[in-house]
Amino acid sequence: MNTNLYKITDPENQTAELEEIAALLRAGETVAIPTETVYGLAANALDPDAVKKIFIAKGRPQDNPLIVHIAETGALYEIAAAVPDAALRLAEAYWPGPLTVILPKKDAIPENVSAGLDTVAIRMPSHPVARAIIKAAGVPLAAPSANISGFPSPTDAETVCDDMTGKVAAIVDGGPCDFGIESTVVTLASPVPRVLRPGAVTVEQLEAVLGKVEVDEAVLHPLKKDAVAASPGMKYKHYSPKAQLYIVRGDLKAFVSYVYRHKEEADHCLCFEGEERFLPLPAVTFGKEAEPLTQSHSLFDALRQLDRQGAKTVFAREPKTEGVGLGVCNRLFRAAGFRFLEDAPENRSGKLLGLCGLSGAGKTTVCSLLRARGAEIVDTDLIAREIVETGSPTLETLANTFGRDILRPDGSLNRNALAAKAFASEEGAKELTAITHPAIIQKTLAQAFAAAANGKTAVIDAPLLFTAGLDRLCDLTAAVTAPEDVRRARIRARDGLPDEEINKRFAAQKEEAEKAAAADFVLKNYPPYDPEEETGRLWRTLRDANA
Ligand code: TXA
Ligand code: MG
Repeated sequence: MNTNLYKITDPENQTAELEEIAALLRAGETVAIPTETVYGLAANALDPDAVKKIFIAKGRPQDNPLIVHIAETGALYEIAAAVPDAALRLAEAYWPGPLTVILPKKDAIPENVSAGLDTVAIRMPSHPVARAIIKAAGVPLAAPSANISGFPSPTDAETVCDDMTGKVAAIVDGGPCDFGIESTVVTLASPVPRVLRPGAVTVEQLEAVLGKVEVDEAVLHPLKKDAVAASPGMKYKHYSPKAQLYIVRGDLKAFVSYVYRHKEEADHCLCFEGEERFLPLPAVTFGKEAEPLTQSHSLFDALRQLDRQGAKTVFAREPKTEGVGLGVCNRLFRAAGFRFLEDAPENRSGKLLGLCGLSGAGKTTVCSLLRARGAEIVDTDLIAREIVETGSPTLETLANTFGRDILRPDGSLNRNALAAKAFASEEGAKELTAITHPAIIQKTLAQAFAAAANGKTAVIDAPLLFTAGLDRLCDLTAAVTAPEDVRRARIRARDGLPDEEINKRFAAQKEEAEKAAAADFVLKNYPPYDPEEETGRLWRTLRDANA
């Protein structure tokens, strides 16, 4: 079949193209259209032969009913056998928008739209292109998501083209979808309104209009054997990438800890933005941890991205279930076939302490005192040297980036040569950080989590604790402090440096000093305070942290 492509950016001024699209729909053809949730594959909802083509193009099971899309609330009366007051109040509050309401159906709706049920799912999308197409067609449009059945729903026209070219009469490009997950489905055909599929209209928003609302068991749990699905779509292992996903339960720290201890068992991670740098596996991100709308927006795209990268086994982060997060969890859990992983608590019984301190504050002393109490000190200075040992992959990358003349004849790193090249420009310095930091961070965390798994407290003694965001993984952060004159005197005595050198060192630590001020615990390492006593106080605070 020949598939026409349309790009509609300004529906009000593209009436000729809209009329062509509408004519295809009226003639009983299928057209993929943009909506604010995901792309839909539309056909005339009143024409069973047209609707049949949707099932064929998607390879969709016959028993999974479709959603009927309308452009005016008045159209409800042509489709639903009864329109309760609750439906009108929902329409008033959330239509047009990402909400589908299930009502008893009228006979005008063919059997294959509702898959033989006596109810029908109805929604009024807010996407201006979807609205313009429904209006131009002059008929309600049945439209499931425009993916091959079982695959993640498409959130842009390119993805629709991948799945549907040659199978449908036309594909309309209306840009990327805002919400990225399908509409909330709520049934009003049950005694108490019940959410069958969570989406961008949240349970709380529904309750604000309807009072009590139930959430179907199948939203966050696999359907029990032999149970009948309230929403037939819930039966299927939906939204799946080709890779096998596993949800790692818990917060960021639990996730990262798990990944380090099991990194041979997966090849990719699916995490939130900014977490990639902590992980020893290639990662794809889906939004920000605290912003579920950014997660819904990019989840399906991230799942397809994993496939493009050839992922086979993926460790995925667990989103929160509040608000739109419930919809994100529903899709992600199903994509994973409800496979969850969790480290046994005893495998992460040790705690992580992030320790920082300015030059001369006496961090080394405190480290020795902590070691005497059984802590394992992860020495990041040592790690920074280890990652560029002769023959290491990081050193190879550095040589490829900055030139082979940063290497001595025996293949070892010539630090001065590297510094001369890297610090010659701002980009060079950035590139150096981009290459070395991930290697340092990963080795640091590997050691820290290994120690914690053995029940030990791991002390991450890192100048880049805050700048690299490692503090996010620590149970507690502590700054060792001393007044400037004390630090100056110590450096003078220890390193025999002249004052101007000491000033330079202090100036270079300005940013670090500001960040260290944000530490959870301040350890005063100067008279009259006793370092041993102060360290004891720190030790007890750490023991009680997150307990
Ligand atoms: O955001 C959306 O809703 C997108 C866009 C294209 O509008 N459409 C969509 O359609 O997600 P689809 O077919 O992929 O999902 C429809 C869901 C399925 O889970 C189906 O089982 C359920 O709605 N459904 C449809 N009619 C139903 C009914 N009468 N009773 C219970 N569930 C129904
Ligand atoms: Mg679908």
